[in-house]
Amino acid sequence: MITIKIDGRKVRAKEGATVLQAAQELRIEIPTLCSYKDLSPFGACRLCVVEVKANGKWQLATSCDAPVKEGMEVRTNTDRVKEGRKLAAELLYYRYPTTGAVREIAGKLGVDVAEGKADDHDCILCGLCTRTCHEVVGVDALTFMDRGPGRNIDQPKIEYIADACIGCGSCAFVCPTGFVKMEDKGHQRTIWGKDFKMESCGVCGRYFAPVDQLTWISKKTGVPYERLKTCTSCR
Ligand code: SF4
Ligand code: FES
Repeated sequence: MITIKIDGRKVRAKEGATVLQAAQELRIEIPTLCSYKDLSPFGACRLCVVEVKANGKWQLATSCDAPVKEGMEVRTNTDRVKEGRKLAAELLYYRYPTTGAVREIAGKLGVDVAEGKADDHDCILCGLCTRTCHEVVGVDALTFMDRGPGRNIDQPKIEYIADACIGCGSCAFVCPTGFVKMEDKGHQRTIWGKDFKMESCGVCGRYFAPVDQLTWISKKTGVPYERLKTCTSCR
């Protein structure tokens, strides 16, 4: 374990933990849009900035990807931190002024949010869906396009690889803006424009998971498909 100081309070943190996780242990609220527990950090939104003392000087750093270090000192609530978060929120707001989730967090962080349309669901390129697909689901059906030299920085996009997708819906669950649309209609789920046949529970008859997802789980775990045909409520 490592001991660090956050806002003057001592906290013990696990080696390899981030400053954000250590602060959350103390129930200190830090705004985030591109971070999610159990996913690797991405450092895209910069809403989570804090001040960290390095070489005797306080410097702004994103807390979601800053690892704790023995003796580290952190400040989460100074004017500089608030300004840093507000600036990050402003940048997001100017880029996605009609996206509800962005407007909401920008307003909370002191940005002057104009009245008007707030019902868009833009992709803010937070990378939560791509990381979930890769790190949690393990199928890599979503990746960022336009990587590498010569990429279009202004308009990077998420690439959907339909053949790899198992229709699990994890990306829709983590997407903070509602850009990923998923619709379940009886025996069919539609996500990223692809239709998936749903399996019905052998006990209650409710459609509960795509056939492709159960097939994939069966293949990965060796559990026969027939044994997976029971929904979580009936297990
Ligand atoms: S689709 Fe949603 S989760 Fe994926 S990068 Fe865009 S905003 Fe983030
Ligand atoms: S939550 Fe840390 S950069 Fe987005």
